[in-house]
Amino acid sequence: MKLFTTSMMCANVFKLQEEIKVIDKYTDFYHIDVMDGHFVPNLALSFDFIKQLRSQTKKPIDAHLMMTNPGNFVDLLIEFGVDYISLHPKTIEKNVFKLINKIKSSDIKVGIVLSPSDGLDAIKYYKDHIDKITVMTVEPGFAGQGVIPEAVSKIKEVYDFREENNLKFLIEVDGSNNFSTFDKYYKNGTDIFVLGSTLFNEADLEQGYLKIKKYIETLNG
Ligand code: DX5
Ligand code: ZN
Repeated sequence: MKLFTTSMMCANVFKLQEEIKVIDKYTDFYHIDVMDGHFVPNLALSFDFIKQLRSQTKKPIDAHLMMTNPGNFVDLLIEFGVDYISLHPKTIEKNVFKLINKIKSSDIKVGIVLSPSDGLDAIKYYKDHIDKITVMTVEPGFAGQGVIPEAVSKIKEVYDFREENNLKFLIEVDGSNNFSTFDKYYKNGTDIFVLGSTLFNEADLEQGYLKIKKYIETLNG
């Protein structure tokens, strides 16, 4: 079964309440991009946003942390009740095992996010502890960018890696999920599609979800 998560940095802040009603009906997860202006050249959603969103939904919340020293905020995210904490390997090199233990012992799932230039070698020694691997098909930092073809083939590489090693993590693709990429993402083994600007550019959000879901169903086979 294919799953959908919704990138809240693409939501319309002036219509948030209204949009969340629709999002909650159709999304499997909420994807929250936290950016610090340092690890990536942009600022995006905050921990306070996550805290407030928690009170609005029972659906799983995934915090995609695009920041240096994300470990400093793991306690806060545990307190706020997120379901996934998704981290970039380069930002956790110094304390990865400690962080994974802390997250897992709080019954929260560990996500690892591979930027376009990150290879699977980065996760070699902690692969058994990962619940979800996100392949970024754009450079982290901005919505609405063009897809990087080399990163698209990495989805298949991650899929094969999972099969070869008998692992169970979910494969998510973040970046440029749209009607010219869904097909490739799907065929390469994507389990979770991160819906960003393509969804929110639709005139009607509900119709947008229905259109995307219907399209993904046609890709089967
Ligand atoms: C980018 C974020 C994405 C972003 C994707 O750094 O991680 O979640 O919202 O947006 P689109 O789908 O427009 O590439
Ligand atoms: Zn993201």
